Amino acid sequence: MGGLNDEVLDERLAERVARLPLDRKVRLLTGASMFTLHGEDEIGLAPMAFSDGPTGVRGLEFTGGPLTCLFPNATLLASSWRRETAAEVGRLLAEEAERQRIHVVLGPTVNLHRSPLGGRLFEAYSEDPLLTGHLAAAYVAGLQDRGVGACVKHLVANESETDRSTVDSVVDERTLREVYLLPFEIAVQDADPWSVMAAYNDVNGVPATEQDHVINGILKGEWGWSGLVMSDWFATKSAGPAANGGLDLVMPGPLGPWGPALVAAVQAGEVAESVVDDHLHRLLRLADRVGALDAPRAWPSVVPDPAGAVRREQLLRLAAQGMTVLANDGALPLARENRIALVGRPALETTCMGGGSATVRAPHQVSIADGLREASDRVTVVDGVAVRSRPRPSPSGMRVRLFGGSGALLSDRHSEEARTIVGLPGEDLGEPVARVELSTPLPAGATRIGVLGVAHARVTAGDASHEVTLESVSNDIGADVLQPPAWQTDVVLAEPAELVAELTGDSMVAVGLVAEPTPPSDDEAIAAAVAAAGEADVAVVVVGLTEEEETEAADKSTLALPGRQDELVSAVAAAAARTVVVVNAATPVLMPWRDEVHAVLWAGLPGQEGGHAVAAALLGEIEPAGRLVTSFPAADGAAPAWDVVPTDGRLTYEEGVFVGYRGYAARRAPAPAYWFGEGLGYGSWEYGEVSLDGRVLSVDLTNTSSRASREVVQVYLQPEPEDRDDQPVRLVGWSTVDLDAGERRDVDVELDPRALRTWADGAWHPLTGGRLLVARGLGDIRGEVPFTPPTP
Ligand code: BGC
Repeated sequence: MGGLNDEVLDERLAERVARLPLDRKVRLLTGASMFTLHGEDEIGLAPMAFSDGPTGVRGLEFTGGPLTCLFPNATLLASSWRRETAAEVGRLLAEEAERQRIHVVLGPTVNLHRSPLGGRLFEAYSEDPLLTGHLAAAYVAGLQDRGVGACVKHLVANESETDRSTVDSVVDERTLREVYLLPFEIAVQDADPWSVMAAYNDVNGVPATEQDHVINGILKGEWGWSGLVMSDWFATKSAGPAANGGLDLVMPGPLGPWGPALVAAVQAGEVAESVVDDHLHRLLRLADRVGALDAPRAWPSVVPDPAGAVRREQLLRLAAQGMTVLANDGALPLARENRIALVGRPALETTCMGGGSATVRAPHQVSIADGLREASDRVTVVDGVAVRSRPRPSPSGMRVRLFGGSGALLSDRHSEEARTIVGLPGEDLGEPVARVELSTPLPAGATRIGVLGVAHARVTAGDASHEVTLESVSNDIGADVLQPPAWQTDVVLAEPAELVAELTGDSMVAVGLVAEPTPPSDDEAIAAAVAAAGEADVAVVVVGLTEEEETEAADKSTLALPGRQDELVSAVAAAAARTVVVVNAATPVLMPWRDEVHAVLWAGLPGQEGGHAVAAALLGEIEPAGRLVTSFPAADGAAPAWDVVPTDGRLTYEEGVFVGYRGYAARRAPAPAYWFGEGLGYGSWEYGEVSLDGRVLSVDLTNTSSRASREVVQVYLQPEPEDRDDQPVRLVGWSTVDLDAGERRDVDVELDPRALRTWADGAWHPLTGGRLLVARGLGDIRGEVPFTPPTP
C-alpha cells in the first residue's frame, strides 16, 4: 500500500504526527479494545483490527467469533520443510483476514523449541533457528504480499509458559544472537514484517516490553527495521521505561499503563516527546501499509468459504504432506484391501488444534475415524482409553442465559462452542452478570454430565441434582479461561432429559457443560481393542495429546502419553498381525512401544481436515513426506534443555547454543529417540557425489523407489574436532525436491551465511573450517565435503 517512496512517506507521516497534541498522540498508542486500535479522523487514520494467529484467523472475539479455517498447527506445517508451504499458508491466511476485514494477523510465532516441555511449542515451528527464520519469512511474505500485516512474535526468549509474565529468561548475548534472535533477524531481513510482538517475560532482568537493548539497539538500530512493536496482551509493565525501551503500542486497550501516565512522563521530562512521535510515526506507517490511512482499503468481496471444496483441498494437502513417517517395516502405506481395526480415543476425538489464543472456531474438525471410514469401507472403529485428566466441554453446544443481580434476563443465546465467555469487561449487558444458566438436551442412557467455570453451580439432569463449588486453582484469569476448573459425574438416564447448570459467583469468565455418552472404562476399552485387532489385517492405534498439554499458559511435566495409552498400544501390538501407530500430537512424546509396532506416523494437530489428511497419508494418496522439526528425546529429562520451572524467578538458558540436536550431537544428552530432520516418507534415496562451489553445495540424488517422492536434502556444518566444545554442529541450508520414481538429479543447497558465523567480542565472525554433512537428520549422514568458506 502507500505507493510513495520512503522519504516522501516519512515526511507525510511526520506532518500528521505534528498535527496532534500530546494527549491525542498518546491515546493512539494503546488499543481501543481487545483487538482494535483507535482511529483519528483529523489525520486520516482509520481504526485497525488485529486477529490471532497463527494458524487461523480467529477474528475479534476470543470465543464465539465467525467460522474460519482451522489450519494444521505450526509444527506440522513446518515439517514439510518447504518455504512454499509457509508462503501458501501466509497467502491463505491473508484471504481469511480479508474476509473478516482484519489488518494484521498475530503470527508467525518464531520462539524455538528449547525444552520439549514448553506448552506452546505446537504454535512455533522448530528447535532450529534457521528453519524457523526461513519459514517465518516465507509466511510473512505470503501475508504481506496481499496487504495484510504480519506480527512476528514473541520477542524474545519466550520458550516456555511457567510464570510467563514474571519469569526472567537469562540468556547470554552470544546465544541470544546466534539462536533466539536469529529467526527474527531472518524474518526482518528477508521479508520485512510490519510488526513484532514483545513478549511477557523479562530478558536478563529487563522486561521484554522495555528492552532498549533488543528493541532499540538490535531490532530498530542494527537491523534498521521500520515496523511497529506491540506488546503481548497485558504484558506492558510501565509507561516511561516501556516507551523509552522501544515499545510502540500497548495492547489491548482502552485501559493500560500508558495514557495519562505516559503524558505525565513526557511532561516530567522522563520521556522525550520525540520518542512518542516515533512510536506514532511507526503506527501510521503500519496503517499506511495495511490501507488504514487516508483512502479506505478495498476488501475483496469473494473469499473461499471456510468449509468449501477449495479450502478442504488446500488444508488436507497442507496437513498430509507434513505428516512424518518415523518407522515403517512396510506396513505403510496401507493396502486398500486391508481390514483395519482403528483404535483409540484420539481416533474418535481427534485433537485438531492446540489451546489458547491460537484457537479458532472451525466449520468442522474431521476425526480420524470419520476420515478413514470415508476412505475405506473396511474399517472397524473401537474407542480407546481415557486421554484427558480434566472434563471435556461438550462439543455439541448449549443454550446460554445470563441474568443480572436484579433477576433480569440480560442475554439468551445459543453457543455452538463448548466453552463460552461471560462478563468480559467492555461487554455492555446493562448490568453485571450475576447468574448464568447453561442447558442442553441429553438422550437416555449412560451419560457423563458436568460443568466448567469458576462458580458455585447447581447441576440437574432428570431427577438428580448436584451442588458443586468450583474454585480457581491458579488465580490467573488467563488460566481460568483456558482451563477452567470443572466437575463431572456419570449418570444413567431412564429417559431423555435436560441438563441444566445454574452458576453464580463474582469471577465467572469461561463456563461450559460436560454432556456426552459415558465412555468405556479403560479395561473395557483395552479388551475391546485387543479383540478387534485380532480380527483385522492391520490395527491402527491412534494415540496422542490434547489441548490439555498442547496449550498456551501451561507447560508439561512429562513427555509420556497421558492415561494408559502406552498399555493400549502394547496390548494391541501383541494381538494384531500388524500394528501402525498414529501420533496425534504436535510435540515430542515418549514411545516405549516403538520396537513392538510395524510403523509410526506422526500426524501433528492436523486442522479441520485432519481425519481426511491422516487417511490420505496412511493410504499413500498423499505422501507423508515430513521431516521432524524437533528432536524426540528417548526419556523424560534426556534433553539438552529440560526444566521450565524458574528458580527464584529466573530461567537460565544454561545449554547456551547447544540447544536441540546441537546438544545431542555434542553428547550433552543421551541420543534422542528420533533426530531433528528424521523422517522416512514413502520413497528411498541414494546419495552420490557431494561438491561445494562457493556457498552452493550440490549433491547427486536418485529416487531409488518405485514411486514419486519428496526428499529434504539437509546440510549441517560440523566444526573441526578441536572447536566442538565451543561450536555446535548446525543446519546451514536445505532444499526440498520432488523426484519421480527412478529419477536422478543434481540438487543444489544454498548455504545461509547467517548460520555460518559466530558472535564474540561484540561482533560477528565468519566460521572457517570443518565439514559439511549431508544428512537425513544427524542419525543418518549420507555424504560430506570439507567446508572452505567462500572468498568474499
Ligand atoms: C498471546 C499472544 C496473542 C495474544 C492475543 C497472548 O496471550 O501470548 O500470542 O497474540 O494473547 O490473543
